[in-house]
Amino acid sequence: MRFHVLTLFPEAFGEPMQFSIVARAVQREQVTVEVADIRDYTHDAHGTADDYQFGGGHGMVMKPEPVFEAAEAALSGYTEAERNAIPVIFLTPQGELLTQKLVEELSAAPAITLICGHYAGADERIAEGLATRQVSIGDYVLTGGELPAMILIDAVTRLLPGVVGSPESVAGDSITTGLLQHPLYTRPAEYRGLAVPDVLLSGHHAEIERWRRRKSLERTLARRPDLLQTAPLTNEDLQYLYTLGYACPEPGRREHDAQV
Ligand code: ADE
Repeated sequence: MRFHVLTLFPEAFGEPMQFSIVARAVQREQVTVEVADIRDYTHDAHGTADDYQFGGGHGMVMKPEPVFEAAEAALSGYTEAERNAIPVIFLTPQGELLTQKLVEELSAAPAITLICGHYAGADERIAEGLATRQVSIGDYVLTGGELPAMILIDAVTRLLPGVVGSPESVAGDSITTGLLQHPLYTRPAEYRGLAVPDVLLSGHHAEIERWRRRKSLERTLARRPDLLQTAPLTNEDLQYLYTLGYACPEPGRREHDAQV
């Protein structure tokens, strides 16, 4: 997977890409992160990448020309057919929400171009005429698209074949399963008066799986009840949720009922 990042702050991508799993994936050449400085594509001696808004208003707006040209340069080594398969993502709070489903979809692309917005926003022609998708990482506004781009790179990278140690650890992730993950414990069995639940020390695998499933359901109900609308749930799950006071939608009303 090749990530092409277009940013006004290329130095932001130095350190974060140099630790842990993403760094290892870079070392093993499973991914490359190629960072282009949008300012290198400006047309004046001052490297002006932003300008006042037409129509008036607070805040500067990113100019279109340097961003289009930086994208063209980044993608110049690809054939037209390859370019057509490469999503060009503009990171903006106005975008569709980044979900695990979208991350999975993106992980199948041969390369991804990421455009990091800054200032009050970017000229709309970047979204209209250059980006193929606009993506937000959540309903909050950051100072720029650099952190969102890194989050997307991290989330996509860990799904690439061979990047994370065991495929099971990816498959069992929170959200991927449709539910939040159950609690995890390691040694010591007791720490500062906090004990690991007995069932996990019992060696009884069926009981452990049942406990984990129930904890996932409890957690999801408490923290993200919206996920229960689409999570694949068995009759046993629904019965347990019922004991927790979950007012289960009528049969057939949940999106996933057909598959249960
Ligand atoms: N730029 C600023 N805020 C953002 C967000 N929430 N998601 C993506 N890009 C952004």
